[in-house]
Amino acid sequence: MAFPLSPSTPLRLKPYSTLRLLSLCSNSFSKSRPFPPSAAPRRPFHPSAAPRRRCFCTAITAALRSGEAIETKKSELGDPPRGEFGGRVGEFTKRLKISEIKGSPDEGLGLVGQTLTVVGWVRTLRAQSSVTFIEVNDGSCLSNMQCVMDSDAEGYDQVESGLVSTGASIWIQGILVASQGSKQKVELKVKKIMLVGKSDPSYPIQKKRVSREFLRTKAHLRPRTNTFGAVARVRNALAYATHKFFQENGFVWVSSPIITASDCEGAGEQFCVTTLIPSSGETTATPIDAIPKTENGLIDWSQDFFGKPAFLTVSGQLNAETYATALSDVYTFGPTFRAENSNTARHLAEFWMIEPELAFADLDDDMACAAAYLQYVVRHVLENCKEDMEFFNTWIEKGIIDRLTDVVNKDFVQLTYTDAVELLVKSRKKFEFPVKWGCDLQSEHERYITEQVFHGCPVIIRDYPKDIKAFYMRQNDDGRTVAAMDMLVPRVGELIGGSQREERLEYLEARLDDLKLNKDSYWWYLDLRRYGSVPHAGFGLGFERLVQFATGIENIRDAIPFPRTPGSSEF
Ligand code: 4AD
Ligand code: MG
Repeated sequence: MAFPLSPSTPLRLKPYSTLRLLSLCSNSFSKSRPFPPSAAPRRPFHPSAAPRRRCFCTAITAALRSGEAIETKKSELGDPPRGEFGGRVGEFTKRLKISEIKGSPDEGLGLVGQTLTVVGWVRTLRAQSSVTFIEVNDGSCLSNMQCVMDSDAEGYDQVESGLVSTGASIWIQGILVASQGSKQKVELKVKKIMLVGKSDPSYPIQKKRVSREFLRTKAHLRPRTNTFGAVARVRNALAYATHKFFQENGFVWVSSPIITASDCEGAGEQFCVTTLIPSSGETTATPIDAIPKTENGLIDWSQDFFGKPAFLTVSGQLNAETYATALSDVYTFGPTFRAENSNTARHLAEFWMIEPELAFADLDDDMACAAAYLQYVVRHVLENCKEDMEFFNTWIEKGIIDRLTDVVNKDFVQLTYTDAVELLVKSRKKFEFPVKWGCDLQSEHERYITEQVFHGCPVIIRDYPKDIKAFYMRQNDDGRTVAAMDMLVPRVGELIGGSQREERLEYLEARLDDLKLNKDSYWWYLDLRRYGSVPHAGFGLGFERLVQFATGIENIRDAIPFPRTPGSSEF
C-alpha cells in the first residue's frame, strides 16, 4: 500500500528562531576611484540610496544603526599601526550588476536617465551604418545589457579597430534609456567604452549554438554561456537554500573529513590517498620497486603518510553521527568521492553530498525531513531564480516549472520495498532486469514507479531487504528488512538515500561480524552505542542530482563546474 507522507508524518522539526544579523546601509557614499587601475569603480546601485556596506564588527554595526557616521567610529577604534609604508585597506562596496539594473519589476525603467557603469564580457557585437550594438553579460543574470553606441562615444576607436569582439571584457559607461527593441525595456546609451581584456579570434564560444559535449571540453569557458551561467546560479541558490533550511530548523553544520580510514558504505569504491607512490613530476616513470614492501611482499602501509591505508571519503555519515549524538541535529555539505566505474548520466567520481543526521529520530522523522527539505529548496529556486527557470522551461525541459510547482504543493508518496516489488511484478511490464523480492531496484524500475505509477510525484521506498543495504541500517522486527529509505524522483531516479541507524550495540556488532567487517576499525563508531546511544536517522542527497532535478539538465556532468568521471580529470 502507498501512503501520502506528509499528513501521517508531520515534520518533527519546528521553525527555529535564529539570531539574524541586520544588513545595514551607511549614509556616506564611497569615494569613486579612477578606472583603471585594475577593477571597475564600485558604486551604489541606486544613486538615491546609500551603498550597502558589509560590516563584520558589531561595534561598527551598532554605530551605523544609531545613525552615526562610520568614519567617527573607525577613528575611535584607532587607525591600525602604520609605518613609513602601507595604508588602510579600502572599504568594500558592492559593484553595480546587470541583475540589479534589469531585475526590478519594471525591468530597469525606474533608472532611466541615470548614468551607469557596467562591466562584463561581450556576447555579441553588431555594427550597423550609424550605430553599434554590443550585448554585454556580467554573469549576474541571464539577461545581457544592450549597449548602443555611435562614433561620438569616447573609446569608439577600439570598437572600430575590432578590438572589442566576442569574448572580450569591457568597461562601459552611459545613460540608461528606454529601449525601442522588443527584447528589453532599457538599454545603455554609451558615452565611454574601455577594453579591459581583448579576446583572441580563436574564442571558441561564438554565437552559434554549440553542443554540451563540445562545451565539456571547454569547461573553463562554458560558464560564459546562457545554459551554464543559469546552471551555476541555480546551483548557488540551491546551496544557499540548503544552509537556510537547516539553519532555520536548528541544525549545526559539521565538516566531515575528506580523508578517512573507514569505508562508510562498505562497497569498497574508494580512492586511495597515499604518499607511497612518489608524487614528483616523474610519477609516470616510478618503478614498482619504489613502493615499500613487507617481508611477505605486501605493500608496507606502515610507511605510508597516515601509517595505514587512507581513502577519500565516500560519505561523511559516520562522522556526522558522532556530532548528532552530541549536538542533536547536524548536517554536512561537502565533496564525496566514489571510484565506481559508472559512465552514466547520473554518476560522478567526485560529487557533493548533503547529509543531515537527526538524533532522537526514527525513519518517519527522516522521511519527513527529506520531503520538507526538498520542497523548501525547490520553492526557493522557483521564487528566486525566475529568469533562469523560464530559460530552462523553454530550452532544456519543457514543463519543468509545472513539474517543480507540483513537487512543492503535493504530498510525497511512501511505500515499502515489498509493495514496490509487488507493484512491479503485477505491472506485467517487460523489464530488462526481472524483478523479484531481494533484488536491488534498477533505474528502469525506479522510473516506472515515479513516472508511470505515481505520475511524476517523488516517491519514497522504505524497508529494503537488509542484504542489499549497508551495515549501519537499523534492523526491522521482521529480521529480514532494515529501516532504509530511498527517495526517487522522475528523470533522476534515486535522489536521496537514508536510514534509521542501528543504535543497539549488540545488533550492530553482530551485523559487522556477519559482513566480515573489522570491528576494531569501527571502535569509535561503536562507542557511540556504548555511551548514551539514541535512536537516530539521516540521509544523503547527491547535490548534482538535485541540480539535475531542478534545472532539467540531462547529464550530471553539466550540473557541476568541473566534472570528474572515469578517464576525465581535465581542468
Ligand atoms: O545512497 P548513498 O550511497 O548513501 C550514503 O552515502 C549514505 N551514507 C547517506 C546517509 O545516509 N547519510 O548516497 C546518497 C546519495 C544518493 O542518493 C545519490 O543522490 C548520491 O548520493 N550519489 C551520487 N551522486 C553522484 N554520483 C555518484 N557516483 C553518486 N553516488 C551516490
Ligand atoms: Mg543509495
